[in-house]
Amino acid sequence: MNKIVQGAFCLIFGMLSIVAGAQVKSVDQKVDSVMGLMTLEEKIGQMNQYNDDWTATGPVTLDNTKAEQIRQGQLGSLLNCMGTRRVRSWQMIAMQSRLKIPLLFGQDVIHGYKTTFPIPLAEACSWDTNAMELSARIAATEASAGGINWTFAPMVDIARDPRWGRVMEGAGEDPYLGSLIATARVKGFQGKKLGDLNAVMACAKHFAAYGAAIGGRDYNSVDMSDRLLWEVYLPTFKAAEEAGVATFMNSFNDLNGVPATGNKYLQRDILKGKWDFKGFVVSDWGSIGEMINHGNVKDGYEAALSAITAGCDMDMESRNYKDHLAQLVKDNKVPVALIDEAVKRILRKKFELGLFDDPYRFCNAEREQRELNNPAHAKAAREIAAKSIVLLKNEHQLLPLSKNIKVIAFIGPLVKPIMQNKGFWDVEVPDIDSSYVVSQWEGLKNKVGKNTKLLYAKGCAIEGENRDGFAEALEVAKQADVVILSIGERRDMTGEAKSRSNINIPGVQEDLLKALLSTGKSVVVLINAGRPLVFNYTAEHATAILYTWWLGSEAGDAIADVLFGDYNPSAKLPISFPLSVGQIPIYYSHFNTGRPATSDTNHNYNSSYNDLSIFPRYEFGYGLSYTTFKYSNLQLSKKKMTSNDRIEVSVEITNTGNYAGEEIVQLYLRDRVGSIVRPVKELKDFRKISLKAGEAKTIQFVIDKEKLSFYNQKLEWVAEPGDFDLMIGASSKDIRLTDSFELIP
Ligand code: GLC
Repeated sequence: MNKIVQGAFCLIFGMLSIVAGAQVKSVDQKVDSVMGLMTLEEKIGQMNQYNDDWTATGPVTLDNTKAEQIRQGQLGSLLNCMGTRRVRSWQMIAMQSRLKIPLLFGQDVIHGYKTTFPIPLAEACSWDTNAMELSARIAATEASAGGINWTFAPMVDIARDPRWGRVMEGAGEDPYLGSLIATARVKGFQGKKLGDLNAVMACAKHFAAYGAAIGGRDYNSVDMSDRLLWEVYLPTFKAAEEAGVATFMNSFNDLNGVPATGNKYLQRDILKGKWDFKGFVVSDWGSIGEMINHGNVKDGYEAALSAITAGCDMDMESRNYKDHLAQLVKDNKVPVALIDEAVKRILRKKFELGLFDDPYRFCNAEREQRELNNPAHAKAAREIAAKSIVLLKNEHQLLPLSKNIKVIAFIGPLVKPIMQNKGFWDVEVPDIDSSYVVSQWEGLKNKVGKNTKLLYAKGCAIEGENRDGFAEALEVAKQADVVILSIGERRDMTGEAKSRSNINIPGVQEDLLKALLSTGKSVVVLINAGRPLVFNYTAEHATAILYTWWLGSEAGDAIADVLFGDYNPSAKLPISFPLSVGQIPIYYSHFNTGRPATSDTNHNYNSSYNDLSIFPRYEFGYGLSYTTFKYSNLQLSKKKMTSNDRIEVSVEITNTGNYAGEEIVQLYLRDRVGSIVRPVKELKDFRKISLKAGEAKTIQFVIDKEKLSFYNQKLEWVAEPGDFDLMIGASSKDIRLTDSFELIP
């Protein structure tokens, strides 16, 4: 071997040995090395999360020793602490602790940080998972610039009872659509990977079945079969876990008599066992201590024992881990191994976030100012807000309005308010003016030309019986070519602890509509809400209706974009709207029963109310456009398939109207006969397509075994041979084309 080659060999070998010697430690090795230095008290400290003093999202425990506890390494995380200045100040105290383990900062960034996006249920109406991912991405970018590295979102609870106020936080009633949205939101919040400066940990909540609270009463019990749990309420959590969600939050409710926080079946058997989840589980606010109220444990000592044994890694605000875990270890009730497992999960995420490398990496004030004033964020918020608006009615094609219209009367209690448009769970960022919102009045002013005269009257309040403002509203309406009426609920009437027994539009707002219609003018009604409301008079008498939910910072401009056709509404409902509160629960994927009701003309001896239609006011998947679409030419590649086979489905969609627009084409299946009865239809796929006026496109779907499978009596995920109905629809009720096929053994 000549000298040169020999020299090169030695050089390479030498370099390799240096690298081997200074082998970069893996995250687990780093975690183990920190664990090896920690006392039991310091380990337990990592399992504690306290609320900062800025704002509270639960019952507050006054505690002015937080700083000293942090110095002693007795705290792992703070929540409701925002802004680089405040976050830095707490992190500096953590750096005074013996091991300098950085704090995590968690926040409910549910639909935006400074830029507020539509509430999640509104965004779900877009069925646009890319748009929802972008919304979460921007929220994470802003939040991480504000010192936050953990959001308690997405809320992925399936909800089928609009009396439950937290229906506004999720994606509605359907596990298929809800799972796709859960995936999009997790990816949006967490970005390419944890450790990127604009990535925050996401949190799948509330585990599990919190949305099935009996009577829609928040925090109430949940009672269901394991089969229903697996078929309807777990899929969105599984999707979040498969998307790599960093954390889970357990829920306040008891599930079949066992509080979720102390539920080993949920947290250890399913989440950490069957699903092999590697992140960590945080309790909900005080939910460990609330197991005493449940009557599942007798005191804080037993509550801590139950929660840690069941797999809850971090205690949000109850202080039972702080007060009792060390004693439980000393009493040999809790093996140190359980503490170590929880702490390793928590430390692993702190390493992945890069907090050990630089505890202040999320505390850059210059980045905070830059990201919280990024015009691209407002543009994205306006676009997804327009995509979230559902056109429920449009008689005589009143909408879109002409921009040459002479006089518009804009009436109602929600025309001028600003902050109402942010809905529930908005974030009040300290030191930052987050009051920026385009009101509905401003949005219209921004849109109309100088030849259009805008008139305003409030008409009435959101609540109360006072009709004094009707006269002025009528005077204004009489002068107008068209009336726009903006009504609804207050933004804090839907959200956490906001369950309602009456979900009508409150006050005399529908009476105001009746008065305005008496002028003979056409009235466009905007309904602002966080939940499906009941509004039968409006539904039957208004000329046009837009369900505008709560659309966030860009509400006014987005509403104006839709009113004047700069955006053709494409949204479809992810949740059924009941005719009355007595019709709840009502959802499209119901079983047929032995005495199915199929029409409103016959209520004899079938499953229906004798005094009410069998149909909701508006069904899952419903939403209109300014154009129309024709569905034709449904083709299946075959009529029989085996379980390892697939059927290609194609259908042609034509825009038969005068406006370019988007259509959400939905594919439903029905398994006609199953060892467990199967729903009359289930959403199994959809496509959102754009078509110019007159344009036609053929779209494809694939039917495979996965789409035919369900949980049988033994909770096995199976596809059973037999006949299936295939339905292509513009909604779960507006089925345009049908066919059938057979799954053969
Ligand atoms: C609340 C909510 C939960 C939230 C947490 C922190 O009670 O149930 O969704 O993330 O407390 O604010």
